[in-house]
Amino acid sequence: MSIPQLEDLGDMSGRRVLLRADFNVPLANGEITDDLRIRAALPTIKWLQDAGATVVACSHLGRPKGEPNPEFSLDPVRAVLAQRAPGVELLENLRFDPGETANDPAFVAELIAGCDAYVNDAFGASHRSHASIVGPPQHLPSAAGRLLAKEVDVLLGVRNEPRRPFVGILGGAKVSDKLGVIEALLGICDSLIVGGGMAFTFLAAKGNQVGSSLLEEDQIATCKALLDSGAAIHLPHDITALGPGGKIGDPDAGGEVRQVGTSMPDGWMGLDIGPGTAAEFTDIITEARTVLWNGPMGVFEDPRFAAGTHTVGQAVAECRGFTVVGGGDSAAAAAKFGLADQIDHVSTGGGASLELLETGDLPGLKALRDSSQTTS
Ligand code: 3PG
Ligand code: MG
Repeated sequence: MSIPQLEDLGDMSGRRVLLRADFNVPLANGEITDDLRIRAALPTIKWLQDAGATVVACSHLGRPKGEPNPEFSLDPVRAVLAQRAPGVELLENLRFDPGETANDPAFVAELIAGCDAYVNDAFGASHRSHASIVGPPQHLPSAAGRLLAKEVDVLLGVRNEPRRPFVGILGGAKVSDKLGVIEALLGICDSLIVGGGMAFTFLAAKGNQVGSSLLEEDQIATCKALLDSGAAIHLPHDITALGPGGKIGDPDAGGEVRQVGTSMPDGWMGLDIGPGTAAEFTDIITEARTVLWNGPMGVFEDPRFAAGTHTVGQAVAECRGFTVVGGGDSAAAAAKFGLADQIDHVSTGGGASLELLETGDLPGLKALRDSSQTTS
């Protein structure tokens, strides 16, 4: 895909550039717990500053409801930027203004006032048709930052020209959230591994009792059709489950933890793939020449249900093929288990990487392509 690059903006000296970044970082008690998204934006900031531009950065953080809310202030990000990229100005959370998510032209006008170029490096937010993503390219010479360009390169490369065998690994809670991407991946992968909460709807579609595990009744027929199509879908054949009375995230609450097969008694909740399944998935991943991993295999935040995600993550990290982790929970898991450095590409976008894999495009990319035809 051809999108305008930083070099296409021409001479940058003395120019004031509006940089849309995705500084939507995880916070705990006001502290940034993972600064990947800030580090990932630094090459673009440095390039612009070295070229003589003044950088005015902007981002959303969390989901404030269109009004200022100190809980979602960008102050913690501003403090990190002051150290890592001195001289960058950072606007306050874009979503403090209802015009951001509504893509209000008046808010776009406010954002671009005084700026003479626009750079989108917010890969993680480029699936949103929000003011700061799709608005400025209609008015200013615009380009993709280094991070956005790299994400698109890697993910479209995997989508369009994977080395084979290509193994997709999907997990996470819901089939309904990922149906589009399941179908897209079945079209391009040689095999698809399914774990996490979504596996139980597939297991139910095969006639298994799933006890009190997560189940989307209204997706059973869809899962059955996918399985009947003969697609190479690998499901768990053993499960780590929590018995009646137990609480997720609270080992002290009691409740028995047990390895079960694919039939769970009433009151039992499957919360991780079992060791046999983790070993089988490892074998499949080891043979792959391309791996795409999106979504944990279990509730890895609870140590009792972390083993499946840890084992699969380790297999991805040790795979000799080209390995990509879609953002969100699986990126958090890779970081938690210390595996991120061994993975070829850890995407900074969860929803954005899925939408790009599914559709091959994003609203933010289209805005940049259209811009190159109208502005410069
Ligand atoms: C993300 O964290 O996935 C992006 O920053 C987008 O955030 P959003 O889902 O609130 O639009
Ligand atoms: Mg590798």
